[in-house]
Amino acid sequence: MSQPLPAFPEGFTWGVSTSAYQIEGAVTEGGRGPSIWDKFCREPGRVQRGETGDVAADHYHRYAEDVGLMADLGIGAYRFSIAWPRIQPTGTGPANPAGLAFYDRLVDALLEQGIDPIATLFHWDMPQPLDDAGGWANRDTAARFGEYADLVAARLGDRVKLWITLNEPVMHTYLGHMDGSHAPGRTGLDSAFPVVHHQLLGHGLAVAAIRRHTSGAGVSIANNYTAVWAVGADGTRDSAGDEDRAAAAGYDLLHNRLFTDPLLLGSYPPGYEMLAGADVDSVVLDGDLRVISTPLDWLGVNYYNPSGIGAPQPDALMPFDAPPLAGFPTTGFDWPIAPDGLREVLVGLHERYPGKMPPIWITENGCAFPDGDGPDTDRIAYLDGHIRAVHAAMAAGVDVRGYFVWSLLDNFEWAEGYSQRFGLVRVDFDTQRRTPRASFDWYRDLIRGGTQ
Ligand code: FCB
Repeated sequence: MSQPLPAFPEGFTWGVSTSAYQIEGAVTEGGRGPSIWDKFCREPGRVQRGETGDVAADHYHRYAEDVGLMADLGIGAYRFSIAWPRIQPTGTGPANPAGLAFYDRLVDALLEQGIDPIATLFHWDMPQPLDDAGGWANRDTAARFGEYADLVAARLGDRVKLWITLNEPVMHTYLGHMDGSHAPGRTGLDSAFPVVHHQLLGHGLAVAAIRRHTSGAGVSIANNYTAVWAVGADGTRDSAGDEDRAAAAGYDLLHNRLFTDPLLLGSYPPGYEMLAGADVDSVVLDGDLRVISTPLDWLGVNYYNPSGIGAPQPDALMPFDAPPLAGFPTTGFDWPIAPDGLREVLVGLHERYPGKMPPIWITENGCAFPDGDGPDTDRIAYLDGHIRAVHAAMAAGVDVRGYFVWSLLDNFEWAEGYSQRFGLVRVDFDTQRRTPRASFDWYRDLIRGGTQ
């Protein structure tokens, strides 16, 4: 953009992120079993226009071309996810050799180009049979996840040095198990806390499994963080009152702290009972929090937008309301664009967990804008602003080591189907033709140092 970007330290890692169900397609190939997203997409009304990830960006067949795009981009690392139902088609039992072989090929192709692979073990595509048995609401799923992590790390741990156990347990809990807009489509409050706890327990078991098979690997979890701003009913911060501020504090607890305090402090934040109800003692067993708080090597922060939060409407399920935040431009998704929210999140994490916060990597940041022939300036402006915000946080003392754009390719954006285009690379879903956008060139120049 007009002002040169500030310099980042030597060794700072620039990358891009994707996830399996959103790009791979080939859902019945290589012995892959069905996932909760395969089922959810087939339920009427769940996904816009009834779209599915059956083909997506066909990355399963086109991964070599996609690694070529990454090499052109000049990234140092690529964050992808492994589809659990490719490795264990029914969620339990021995590894499916064809499933492991696909990721083997991908990892080798990345390494040949000097790109570090970063593997996420769970980006929401749970094997359907595990969900049939209760999914994350069932404590047993945490143990199953640990076994799956063991199988993957045993095969890839010699080459994959950076690992992420879970992607965004917060969004998977609230969208998948409370408002039902994502798979598995459950609603209500009953199983929300067990779903939180069993994901975190599964994370801890997976950390141990990965460390058994790797030496010197960096293990992490990636969560979604938002800056929480109290707003009045008109969506402005100026009109927020005490009840709005109290609601915002509760939202901050449920979105940001509930999933971070147990990892870094070994305890749930006081007040979490609003979600857990009376059942805490039957869910959190002795020793669980020790497993969950196994020290992390780094923390993945996914950031998209701030949240405007106010006092709840009468009879609301949750103790807050989220009116549209007034006064900010928005992305195609109607998400408010506020780069300073990212700086605030990073400085807030640094201050909340003194001495406990490992180095941070921004594992997702990006935006969707409607497809067109335009010059892609909105996406470039979004990325430029957020990268500056990362730099500002670093200047304030936050230890940030990497930044990953969501996403390399246009892809299957969950309940929105193919309507939201997040890619640095445009995908024509009729032909699977890939066309780098102007933001691709901009990011490539930034990585080369050419924008300074
Ligand atoms: C994040 C998800 C990712 C993608 C982006 C837009 O919450 O982790 O899969 O959908 O949002």
